[in-house]
Amino acid sequence: MLHLLLQERLQSVVQNILPDANLRLVQVRPCPDPKFGDYQSIALMALARERKRNPRQIAEQVLKQLDLSEFCDKVEIAGPGFLNFRIKPAAISRILQQAARGEHQFLQPSSAPRTVVIDFSSPNVAKPMHVGHIRSTILGDCLARVLRLLGHRVITDNHIGDWGTQFGKLLLGWKTMRDDAALLREPLEEMGRIYKEINARFEADDQVKAQARHELLKLQSGDPENTRIWQEMIRLSLQEFDQIYRRLAIQFDHLLGESFYNPQLQSVVADLQSRGIARESEGATVVFFDDIPELKEQPALIRKSDGAANYTTTDLATLEYRLKTWQPDEIIYVTDARQQLHFKQLFAILERWKPDAQVKLTHVWFGMILGEDGKPFKTRTGENVKLKDLLDEAEQRAFDVVTAKNPDLPEAERREIARVIGLGAIKYSDLLPNRQSDYAFSWEKMLALTGNTAPYVQYAYTRIQSILRKAAETGAISQAAPEFLLNSAEELDLAKHLLNFGIVLEAVADEYRPNYLCNYLYDLASLFARFFEHCPVLKSEGQERIDRLALCQLTGRILRQGLNLLGIETTEKM
Ligand code: ARG
Repeated sequence: MLHLLLQERLQSVVQNILPDANLRLVQVRPCPDPKFGDYQSIALMALARERKRNPRQIAEQVLKQLDLSEFCDKVEIAGPGFLNFRIKPAAISRILQQAARGEHQFLQPSSAPRTVVIDFSSPNVAKPMHVGHIRSTILGDCLARVLRLLGHRVITDNHIGDWGTQFGKLLLGWKTMRDDAALLREPLEEMGRIYKEINARFEADDQVKAQARHELLKLQSGDPENTRIWQEMIRLSLQEFDQIYRRLAIQFDHLLGESFYNPQLQSVVADLQSRGIARESEGATVVFFDDIPELKEQPALIRKSDGAANYTTTDLATLEYRLKTWQPDEIIYVTDARQQLHFKQLFAILERWKPDAQVKLTHVWFGMILGEDGKPFKTRTGENVKLKDLLDEAEQRAFDVVTAKNPDLPEAERREIARVIGLGAIKYSDLLPNRQSDYAFSWEKMLALTGNTAPYVQYAYTRIQSILRKAAETGAISQAAPEFLLNSAEELDLAKHLLNFGIVLEAVADEYRPNYLCNYLYDLASLFARFFEHCPVLKSEGQERIDRLALCQLTGRILRQGLNLLGIETTEKM
């Protein structure tokens, strides 16, 4: 896009003047304050600092050779040596014309596509999915969509928790306290109940402990009955997870749970031991990190004294499998903040275990969802809020909003609109806050039609669709090509914002922060509202009407594409 054209020119001049400069650092970005320009480059300051030279002097040298007259009205040196670029409307018009012809969506697919594995959602079997899982699911899905649109090869993997000591208790509970009718009705609820009750007895009674251990041992040694029950628990869990995934339109390329890696665990431990990375300590096998200050006091256990492998061992085997099978450039893990230590240890072990692996490992962690009282989000009776109930309530509340606005639409249509609005509100309110902070869940806020919300952005889209429908009905849609003369300030501001779609997506992908995209779409919707208020569309004439209708169309397309990247649908009416 435009900033890339500026960037290329700037890079070639810098190369001329400073042949040894690292051109990758010479970047052009949107100007933080539009008062000073549309785009900005701060690169010359760092280059000058490295060379102990005066940045303004280098900037002047650069400007003498930099010919951007096609794109810019002027280029200014500002402050200690930034370059500020002010774009010519004609250059913007050209880019909009290309977009209107369908040549691009204000973005350029990566010239160096990477293979990225995203490990997200990953709920635990035999437990209902609750709001805590929603952030991983929604965040991971959004990152996958953005990276794919930018041209990368994305592999999504749902690493479900389908193995571990809890199955000893679950098997015992299943055999002794199962309620078949309840299991049929709500399998995950029933398994959750079984687990809770058996766990309470387990804590209090040594005999129950011994029985549970026995069941676990039988499962681990392949006992047919226990294996069958374990598989049934997984099947029932996946059935319910899938309903949620279908509802949220989430797809995975792979579903490789923890148990898939069981056959590799012992050899992982043995390998780490023989390489001197892990050693025996008090009967267990442990990796110490004496040379990493942050982890010095936090050794990682990879085999307990009873011989059992654990979460870390499984994740090491998973890593080995992913590296071998997909040769990824990067693996992204999306989980809550509490797993930070686990992933620091895991990544540190890999560095020693496979020092030649050229893979970037990233833990994308997030904060908690709180109730409006600032405490962890619970039902009124203090239970974890179930995801399914939450989605039902979102749709119901959205239905009330839609009905208040459009009492005359047929009910089925109102329900369908409410589905799109309700689920959109949940996803958007989850993606909008900085992911690393906790956020308070609020129905009123997320469903509001004003402010930075999904309904506000979705509404801007439906408004555009209604304008385009009216234009088609009245024959105002013309075959003539738009010129995008952008004569008014509101048109120009809207157009400039469209240009930045790709930059924002790159920032989302680089920093794993979908909130940038939410804010971009909110600004786009707001700029559209201002444009629509000041610039008549259907009442204008000639080329102006053609241009304004085309601007509506482009804005609609980007709103829809942007929402789609957040996993949010649009509707024609609201
Ligand atoms: N099942 C885990 C949990 O619910 C999350 C797994 C995340 N992925 C991983 N490879 N460790 O806490």
